[in-house]
Amino acid sequence: MSPTPVLAAAAIHKHFPGVHALKGVNLHVMPGEVLAVLGENGAGKSTLMKILAGLQQPDQGTLTKDGRTLHLSSALDAKKHGIALIHQELQIADHLNAAANVFLGNEPTYYGFVRRKAMHRRATELFDKLGFGLPANTAVESLSPGKKQLIEIARALAIGARIIIMDEPTASLSQQETEKLFLVISQLRNDGVAVIYISHRLNEIKKIADRVTILRDGENAGELQADAITHDAMVQCMVGRSLDKTYQRQTHATQDMLLEVTGLCTAAHPHKPASFCLHRGEILGIAGLVGAGRTELLRALAGVDPIAAGTMNLQGRPYLPKMPQNAIDAGVVLAPEDRKLHGLLLELSVADNLNLPSLSRLSRGKIFRHKAVENKHAEQHINALQIKCANLAQPARLLSGGNQQKIVISKWLALEPSIFLLDEPTRGIDVGAKREIYALMDSLAAAGKAVMFVSSDMEEILAIADRVLVMHEGAITGEVCGSERNETRIMQLATGSA
Ligand SMILES: Nc1ncnc2c1ncn2[C@@H]1O[C@H](COP(=O)(O)OP(=O)(O)OP(=O)(O)O)[C@@H](O)[C@H]1O
Ligand SMILES: [Mg+2]
Repeated sequence: MSPTPVLAAAAIHKHFPGVHALKGVNLHVMPGEVLAVLGENGAGKSTLMKILAGLQQPDQGTLTKDGRTLHLSSALDAKKHGIALIHQELQIADHLNAAANVFLGNEPTYYGFVRRKAMHRRATELFDKLGFGLPANTAVESLSPGKKQLIEIARALAIGARIIIMDEPTASLSQQETEKLFLVISQLRNDGVAVIYISHRLNEIKKIADRVTILRDGENAGELQADAITHDAMVQCMVGRSLDKTYQRQTHATQDMLLEVTGLCTAAHPHKPASFCLHRGEILGIAGLVGAGRTELLRALAGVDPIAAGTMNLQGRPYLPKMPQNAIDAGVVLAPEDRKLHGLLLELSVADNLNLPSLSRLSRGKIFRHKAVENKHAEQHINALQIKCANLAQPARLLSGGNQQKIVISKWLALEPSIFLLDEPTRGIDVGAKREIYALMDSLAAAGKAVMFVSSDMEEILAIADRVLVMHEGAITGEVCGSERNETRIMQLATGSA
């Protein structure tokens, strides 16, 4: 007799207005198995996970747990069955301490009173088990994303979850935090917990998955096991064709100075002056660990945050943006890291989001809006980056994570800026679309503009940056180019050990 999956979904269908998101998908996971779910942006991964976690109901199809039919009408229902979903956007209450977050909505009580001592004791036990020595009464507000995520995992364990689903858990984790998470996952596996893991980082999947299930356009596109889990096999299954593993580009960098920054101090790091320059045709990468001050630097350049000290010269003229509009007028635009907070107007349509920065250019006599022109413009962008949406009028909120990110990048590109600042441009983006974004960056550089981008993905930095600035604790600790452009050198500078 073959062993019974702890959780299985059979022939699941899910429709949204204008989209058939899941078309008869099957999935199963065994106790103590790490199952990775892979697929292009909009393939249906998150939708399937929401169904497994009771947040959405399938139109058709069945779920089974330990071989018995399961009806989940809410997230609470799923929890009762030991199924926990850790969303990409962490669900942490910043005003509560660590222990209270672990037991959020599930507080141990005695005749209606919360048993604080018991809660603290149990939280401490769970934190110890997960190997992170965090006092139960820690204020969570200032914790790093990695620590917050461990709190969410502790929360899943507190309800006795046998199935833990993680939707892009490492998107905002540092490398160390990611490794820590992998240790926790192997421990969960040893304890017999089933882990379903979604990621666009193929290296990670290779490292931790026992099996990979691939979705394409809402359907099962294949499955890989053990040694068959290779980069090429995953890409082939996901995209339907093979992609060269390494992206290669020719430099377009010139000696012509576009931006010169001298002694720039950001409000976050007022005593760490940064000096560097950016040339025409250059793609400049900024490497560093999470919290090194990379985002703050870009924000200061884009007029989002005030500048504490220093001077800047843009094409030979003094440049001191006091607000983002000043920067945009000068041809400097920023695509921010957190698309939900700063990059998108979630309730507006896909077309409006794409057109927003270009509205005056697209309007009649710069006053009247011109719908046909706007729609054509939006369509061009949708085609260029293969943005997946039901129609132009769909609210941006309803797009998959990766497709939202493509809109953020695309809308600023439309302005044809002379300097394009990109903060983690490919976070949450699938392998194929990453290539499209690299190609766009390259074409800007080829056209004599310049690109400056922050990335935590070392391979990406090495593949596309002409030159790399490395930051550590708010300061630029080095600049690497030529033969020095390698991972070891960058890590030394990023950890301050150079
Ligand atoms: N609530 C919703 N209303 C309308 N359409 C939706 C809704 N949720 C998801 N969709 C659509 O369903 C499809 C699948 O989306 P889903 O979020 O599952 O993709 P995904 O595989 O997780 O992609 P990504 O890698 O970008 O996160 C997309 O076309 C998306 O726009
Ligand atoms: Mg998703």
